[in-house]
Amino acid sequence: MGSISKGQVHFLLLKIHSLTGLVPIGLFLTFHLLVNSLRTVGVLPYQWSIDVINNLPFLIWIEIFFIYIPLLFHSFMGIYITQVAKLNAIRYRYPRNWMYVLQRLTGAVVFVFLIYHMGTTVAPKIWNGHHLFEAAPFLIDVMNQEFATWTGRIIYLVGILSATFHFANGLWAFCISWGIIVGPRAQRNASIVFMLFGGALTVLGFATVLEFSLHPVDVVPTFKGAS
Ligand code: HEM
Repeated sequence: MGSISKGQVHFLLLKIHSLTGLVPIGLFLTFHLLVNSLRTVGVLPYQWSIDVINNLPFLIWIEIFFIYIPLLFHSFMGIYITQVAKLNAIRYRYPRNWMYVLQRLTGAVVFVFLIYHMGTTVAPKIWNGHHLFEAAPFLIDVMNQEFATWTGRIIYLVGILSATFHFANGLWAFCISWGIIVGPRAQRNASIVFMLFGGALTVLGFATVLEFSLHPVDVVPTFKGAS
């Protein structure tokens, strides 16, 4: 058995980077925007969804292994790829080159957005000990305050749009890199399908921001003293 070369390790890391963008991160984003859009149905279904998530057994381990580790790997590997790659778009003005630049740009925006987003939601929730049924009233109050100002709304609209574009365009790149879509016609059709999918996710996210902005409602814990 020969030893693995540096080139093979690099290739493997690129493949894992591409895969983590889809599973689990892309799946998480789809699920997260769907669950948050329950707010457009009513504040109670939204509160129950937060209750369910925050009462899951081993929640912290699920978050560490299925969200934080893949997210950190994907982010830092993305920064590394951007550092070593040449930015062609300035020299060759093809739409695909612009998509390539936008993919890296939105990745950077999402990275900064996530530091802000988790710094205002998950971090204070854990820091202040708002566990189990106490999590929902705290997080809903945070969201109501975020969406009470135009600064907060714009931060979220930019964060959502960057994340959905990055995911939809990344899905296209994933299918090509893994040999799932071959041929120029199939690739053009797939780019339309993925952009429609990204557009649908964006609508879900924007509708949630609109609902929070128009109708801020506070809630009390579903079960008092249960945490
Ligand atoms: C309408 C837009 C959004 C709303 C209302 C929202 C709301 C929330 C809330 C309330 C939490 C805390 C969940 C908890 O601790 O139980 C959270 C966590 C999180 N959000 Fe968002 N979010 C939105 C958009 C996004 C976007 C666009 C991304 C991705 C770029 C994102 C990524 C995350 C991540 C990674 C966490 C931490 C997950 C965890 O620790 O369980 N969110 N979000």
